[in-house]
Amino acid sequence: MLQEGVDLKAYNTFGLSVKAELFGVFRSVEQLKELLSKRSSQNLLILGGGSNLLLTQDVKGIVLKNELLGIEVLKRDQQQVWIKAQGGEIWHNLVLYCIENNFGGIENLSLIPGSVGAAPMQNIGAYGVEIKDVFESLEAINISTGELQTFNTAACEFGYRESVFKRKLKDQYVITSVTLRLSENQEVNTSYGAIQEELAKMGISKPTIKNVSDAVIKIRQSKLPDPKEIGNSGSFFKNPVVSKIQLDKLKIDYPSIANYPLDDHQVKLAAGWLIEHAGWKGKTIDNYGVHKNQALVLVNYGGAKGEDIYQLSEDIMASVFEKYGVQLEREVNVI
Ligand code: EPU
Repeated sequence: MLQEGVDLKAYNTFGLSVKAELFGVFRSVEQLKELLSKRSSQNLLILGGGSNLLLTQDVKGIVLKNELLGIEVLKRDQQQVWIKAQGGEIWHNLVLYCIENNFGGIENLSLIPGSVGAAPMQNIGAYGVEIKDVFESLEAINISTGELQTFNTAACEFGYRESVFKRKLKDQYVITSVTLRLSENQEVNTSYGAIQEELAKMGISKPTIKNVSDAVIKIRQSKLPDPKEIGNSGSFFKNPVVSKIQLDKLKIDYPSIANYPLDDHQVKLAAGWLIEHAGWKGKTIDNYGVHKNQALVLVNYGGAKGEDIYQLSEDIMASVFEKYGVQLEREVNVI
């Protein structure tokens, strides 16, 4: 069931070519349990859609790809519907299924690359919505005991692009399914300015969830490169959080600095703005660089090495720190 020396190029959206010492897929929880029970002390990497990963070297040990498939309605009432999706489903396919069936709540998360199982791991978010807003529970296999456990919202400890699975429980669980609580009504969230602008352009005043999804898809396609054409992993960095005091100081030199208030004391800065105004937007080095439409996205034009992209990210972080005194943090997992 495990193959030796498999090239992972097709399994990561950056399109980086590194080898897995051992590679296998699992299509059922039983298969996963069996694979885990045979493992000794080797290193283990679980792959979903490979969309939040920077592979800088060959991967020692076992790489397992989650191919658990299926979407089902668990229960519904007049207002809500509970949808259980298996971890190996492609996230956007789940979004499309929900739109087709008029289940509202994840239309703002249209076209986010990656798998269902990886979505709660980093609490995916876009255009005013995060998965935690519609989250009911998930099931995950404990890697050391093989036991299937259920986690509710509180147990997942969601934060901005964060969950317990990236922190305390890192590398300890494989997420096998996710249950979402969606709305049966056509309530939409158009709080994000860019969505309102796009809907106005489309001539729509009372948007359906399908309209919102179409608007999000248009915005994303205009700014973000399609990983099928240009290797990338979406936002490479997180938007940094700073104090209002620090923002006021920065505004003296940079009056137009893009920021969003978080609470009375803190703001989130747009990392894309910081990187662009430090001169990096569209910069290309050989076959990799910074995307021309969104400076938060690093790209592989073909044949680049993960270690080069990592070095570029180091250079960007150093330059942003030197210019603004702000420390950027990577959103992607570096292996
Ligand atoms: N901006 C620039 N230059 C750039 C990019 C952005 O000046 O090159 C400024 C603009 O002022 C713009 C603002 O930053 O108005 C915000 O940009 P955008 O709306 O593109 O959002 P973002 O903050 O850069 C975040 C998420 C994206 C998500 C969008 C929309 C993070 C790290 N990224 O980006 O998520 O799609 O908001 O909600 O929070 C991802 O995580 O992979 C991702 C794509």
